Amino acid sequence: MNTNLKRPVKKAVFPVAGLGTRFLPATKVLPKEMLPLVDRPLIQRAVEEAQEAGIEEFIFVSGRGKSLITQHFEIQPELREELERKDKLDLLEKLSHSDIPSGMVQITMQQRALGLGHAIWCAKNLVGDEPFAVFLVDVMTLGETGCMAQMIEAYNNHGGNIIASSPVEHDLTYKYGILDVENESDDVTKIKAMVEKPKPEDAPSNLHILGRYILQPEIFNILEGRQIGAGGEIQLTDAMVTLMNSQPFTSVKLKGETYDCGHHLGFIEANLAFALADPQLGDATYEILKKYIQNPPSLSKRA
Ligand code: UTP
Repeated sequence: MNTNLKRPVKKAVFPVAGLGTRFLPATKVLPKEMLPLVDRPLIQRAVEEAQEAGIEEFIFVSGRGKSLITQHFEIQPELREELERKDKLDLLEKLSHSDIPSGMVQITMQQRALGLGHAIWCAKNLVGDEPFAVFLVDVMTLGETGCMAQMIEAYNNHGGNIIASSPVEHDLTYKYGILDVENESDDVTKIKAMVEKPKPEDAPSNLHILGRYILQPEIFNILEGRQIGAGGEIQLTDAMVTLMNSQPFTSVKLKGETYDCGHHLGFIEANLAFALADPQLGDATYEILKKYIQNPPSLSKRA
């Protein structure tokens, strides 16, 4: 393989310019990516996943009204001093994950939410001629190692472009981008094709594209010429399909669970799962759940 396709991945792109309409009115002012999953915002969890994978530079594709996201990563000396003074070392530790060193955060603007493909294209000048990781922040994963760390391991062996995947129930394929792969039972396998939201009978596999990518910079030239596609948005999948004609794509099946935090029930489930998995909160959360299962509250119009 062209050694260019094995260069290290040092940059991550976080497209955070979407409108978050499914969470309105909660997201009228507060960006969806700032919603807390148990104890920290979705965006912070995504940044931590990138750090765990050895990524050093963080590029936010931001939009109107989304400045809180970048503010979250500003270092706050007064807050740190106060926590030190009160000897709150555990909180200081938690806070340190949102302190990104100078020069390592870059922000670009997507002036109109024209879709994921367009959002990624907006990072073109900041990424430059290097491979890069992409994180869809409303998808969270839970496992022994982070999803991106698993992908980097495969990238170090295979290079090229990597897509994280996870099985979905066969009758739900119509909701997702689905991969056609060489060997569906392998954890790491060559991708032959991908299909956007196929009916179950047309789905080439049950592996869905879950929202983590490692892409080569040639994707930008393809996105550049893209027309607005399905749903009035510039689709990333279409551009990846074109890139597949000239570069290899590999599927990495996530070892762990996936949670779609982009809609209410998925977000509620993710909060339960992450709280149950938390060493400090797990047991108490389980007791709360048991209480509600034994004695469910009656439905109320006020909920
Ligand atoms: P989603 O489609 O899940 O987010 O995009 P959305 O459009 O904000 O949500 P809804 O459908 O209106 O409820 C996945 C990620 O891509 C970003 C979003 O911010 C989200 O983090 N995105 C999406 C952009 O940055 N720009 C876009 O044009 C679209």
